Amino acid sequence: MAFSLGTAALHLGLLALGVQPGDEVITCPNTFLATAEAITYCGARPVFVDIDPSTANLDPVRIARAVTPRTRAIIPIHLYGRPADMDAIRSIAENLKLLVLEDAAQAHGARYRGRRVGGLGQAAAFSFYPSKNLGAYGEGGALTTNDDSIAKYARAARSHGQTARYEHEFVGYNYRMQGFQGAVLRIKLHYLDRWTARRQEIAREYRRVFASAKLGVPNDSPHDESVYHQFVVFVNNRNSVMSQLAARGIESAIHYPRPLHLQPAYSSLAYPPCSFPLSERACDHVLSLPIYPGMTPDQVAHVATSLVRVVGTK
Ligand SMILES: Cc1ncc(COP(=O)(O)O)c(C=O)c1O
Repeated sequence: MAFSLGTAALHLGLLALGVQPGDEVITCPNTFLATAEAITYCGARPVFVDIDPSTANLDPVRIARAVTPRTRAIIPIHLYGRPADMDAIRSIAENLKLLVLEDAAQAHGARYRGRRVGGLGQAAAFSFYPSKNLGAYGEGGALTTNDDSIAKYARAARSHGQTARYEHEFVGYNYRMQGFQGAVLRIKLHYLDRWTARRQEIAREYRRVFASAKLGVPNDSPHDESVYHQFVVFVNNRNSVMSQLAARGIESAIHYPRPLHLQPAYSSLAYPPCSFPLSERACDHVLSLPIYPGMTPDQVAHVATSLVRVVGTK
């Protein structure tokens, strides 16, 4: 169902799972702030676990150690459009009686073991922020679920707790999507598969050229399909690499420069530096390269060969 924001979909997704003040929700610190903010909006506490450095996604092996009697849910993020290891996460969640809300904000259409993300937990949140693979002309989001009770709650909570016109069963929110954004997304949705295929083609070309380069690239499981919201690499001397790329007319970016446990916004959680060394290392070295469906083969080749020239070969 449509929402005003991905953040709003995350928020109501958690409330629909029954997350309450005092609960704990597990996620990883290598994500955009909104993942944790949604937990905080519910009065719950984000509990971080580190990433698998080969994928930059939440490492399922670390979840069990972070669980306490207050843990209620897990939010895996399909970061950069690469599906998190959902079978492992779900089996841990089922064993420990936890619920799973996917943060699919960056992963429209991605497939995990042949199944689309968005249907792999109890619910999932998507974002249609303009820079996303499917972007509105302003803000937008969506919540997906196969569970009727979650859908019923979220539908009412999204619109002031209304169950029928001017029948307010509880105090809800105004998290409705603007009609105009819905109209834009409805048209753009027809192009999503084509755009995704182009992103994947660009990613394959980057991988081919980078095979001998002195940099790291996250692993893609042969069983899954990343939709490459970002194509990230891990480099040394990042500032210098960025400025040398800029000198060749290539803009690069950092997603994300600081893990959430070291953000001032979450200083109250009191995680000291080195609490999540793999996330911290990823944040220190990660670099996002240009990737968008309209990139020409010449532009892709220019980015790829320039980066190899800057970082050198193995
Ligand atoms: C991983 C992740 N989660 C949540 C969000 C929040 O989505 P929105 O900006 O639509 O509220 C975003 C997007 O910015 C995101 O990248």
